Amino acid sequence: MGSWATFGGDLHLDLSAGRARGLGLRAALEDALRTAVREGRLGPGTRLPSSRALAADLGIARNTVAEAYTQLGAEGWLTSRQGSGTVVAERGEPQPAPPPPGVRPEPAVRHNLMPGSPDLSRFPRNAWLAATRRALATAPHEAFGLGDPRGRIELRRALAAYLARVRGVRTDPERLVVCSGYTQGLGLLCRALHEQGVRTVAVEEYGLPPQRAVIAEAGLGTVPLSLDEGGARTGELLGSPAGAAVLTPAHQFPTGVALRAARRATAVAWARATGGVVIEDDYDGEFRYDRQPLGAMQALDPERVVYAGTASKSLAPGIRMAWLALPGRLVEPVMRQKRLADGQSGAVEQLALAELITSGDLDRHIRRSRLQYRRRRDRLIEVLAERVPEVRVTGLSAGLSAVLELPPGSLGEEELLRQARWLGISLSVLSWCRASEAPPAADAPAALVVGYGTPADHAFPAALDALCTLLRL
Ligand SMILES: Cc1ncc(COP(=O)(O)O)c(C=O)c1O
Repeated sequence: MGSWATFGGDLHLDLSAGRARGLGLRAALEDALRTAVREGRLGPGTRLPSSRALAADLGIARNTVAEAYTQLGAEGWLTSRQGSGTVVAERGEPQPAPPPPGVRPEPAVRHNLMPGSPDLSRFPRNAWLAATRRALATAPHEAFGLGDPRGRIELRRALAAYLARVRGVRTDPERLVVCSGYTQGLGLLCRALHEQGVRTVAVEEYGLPPQRAVIAEAGLGTVPLSLDEGGARTGELLGSPAGAAVLTPAHQFPTGVALRAARRATAVAWARATGGVVIEDDYDGEFRYDRQPLGAMQALDPERVVYAGTASKSLAPGIRMAWLALPGRLVEPVMRQKRLADGQSGAVEQLALAELITSGDLDRHIRRSRLQYRRRRDRLIEVLAERVPEVRVTGLSAGLSAVLELPPGSLGEEELLRQARWLGISLSVLSWCRASEAPPAADAPAALVVGYGTPADHAFPAALDALCTLLRL
């Protein structure tokens, strides 16, 4: 069993290897120590140098070492004892507690792999601050009053140009409505469609349950469209009672496939023939890693397809900023709904976003984020292939989440969720996203939906490690 004396010299090398893999300093240090404990190079009971001594030895900030010790302590790798400093815990690898329900309180979430959120620590605070300053310095007084329910013209102009450039959307500022998240936008649209006599909306067989709840709240029923590796089977729209269809063409959520070109054309042909509307939820269209993404489906027919975009992945969900590019005939009805809902979205945030776009800062932020999330996805695939090769990662090289299919005979989804809770991991399972009331096929594999984009950089390696522990149970 190793000791600090034999291991200390390796740490410099392990740290550089972690840095070369793109980890931050603290994450690389945590990773190196975790690996050393797991491999027995640091045996149980080994006393680690004080954070001050190790920081001096490595030439890094003392805080970085102290934070890494704290994190590894929280994960169960290290313990701190009064008088004897930090030592390697007796139990090498954190084990899931065998949980007699209700006997002990559940551990807090330590590894947030919930799909749906970007890495919030990446929010471009400085660029947003600068954009807000510029916006406030130049905004006319009337900007602080209630104005056009579609939103500030500065933002709608910036968006029209941005969406044309980045996603090939064909629109103009007059047909854009800025809303408080896609969630609000979907509700506005559904209420406007309900007024026009629509009663049923087709949704993909798997999707976000809260979005189906928004559709139901507007008084509309849903019918599921089945899915395969080519995306939603839009041929099923023909003869269905649906007056609208919500699709995620660029990157189906959660299965991660793209909607085939022929199926896009089928959906548009259906909308033209029946007077129906396609709602294109382009929630993560900026995040494709292996090639240029297919342009927005809306460009096939801007009078039949509503394009919906959001800043929830590219910036942060908390700023509640999204936009609808509408067919001409839906502009007035959706504006009316927006006026009824909240008058208009926040003017200062809108002006700041307009500045962020026109200054090029949004592009820069997205380029950097794309690189980071791409690395994370590659690392997820690499680590799973190494440690749990029987698990299959499905879907395109895109987005911030992935579906992990488990082999037959693995734990069921409910049990996986229970064990995940005990390991302090928060994530989702595929059946949670299922639209159909009918139970999934008996031979359907258990599958996790993992938001690899969610943790902060420094927390990602530990989250991945915990995920592998879960998958090996
Ligand atoms: C499939 C899908 N659509 C849209 C959104 C964006 O919703 P909002 O703009 O309301 O945050 C999300 C965010 O989680 C999503 O996962």
